[in-house]
Amino acid sequence: MGKIYMTACMKGGCAKTVTTYNLAYSLKELGKKVLCVDFDSQANLSICFGVENPVAVPVTIGHLMMAQIDDDELPGFKEYIQSRNGVDFISSSMMLSAVDAKLRLEMGAEKMLSEILEPLRDRYDVIIIDTAPTLGALNINALAAADEVIITVNP
Ligand SMILES: Nc1ncnc2c1ncn2[C@@H]1O[C@H](COP(=O)(O)OP(=O)(O)O)[C@@H](O)[C@H]1O
Ligand SMILES: [Mg+2]
Repeated sequence: MGKIYMTACMKGGCAKTVTTYNLAYSLKELGKKVLCVDFDSQANLSICFGVENPVAVPVTIGHLMMAQIDDDELPGFKEYIQSRNGVDFISSSMMLSAVDAKLRLEMGAEKMLSEILEPLRDRYDVIIIDTAPTLGALNINALAAADEVIITVNP
């Protein structure tokens, strides 16, 4: 059963995204099966993975979160998990900001990301969530989903 990590820091530009990306490929080199989740509406991690236009990705983590909040059935893994050079990832887009607003109106909505990722645990050794520098409803979801938090600091 895979372990879920998140990178976190309340400051932008503290290497959260770079750490997620490099850690993912380092673990892959060690033979681990890795999934990265871009959980920042700026979609920097998705861009690192080569997604040119995040808004054009049909199913992003924002779509999955919306479906989970509305109690809709999630699409199949193949519809939202992309792969690049041996590391899998779920894209983000601006749409995730709308999820943030919606989550604030929902009671007990801190487990939405956890519910999306739990069924994926069996398929991966490591899942890494890249977050935005805020302590809003999205990062509370990431904290509820993660087993461990990697706090990056400005050296
Ligand atoms: N170890 C490092 N040495 C030099 N530059 C780095 C290092 N880690 C990250 N950077 C640079 O810092 C900037 C911000 O990193 P990023 O991972 O996007 O931060 P965050 O996700 O925390 O906002 C990027 O331009 C990245 O290339
Ligand atoms: Mg980032």
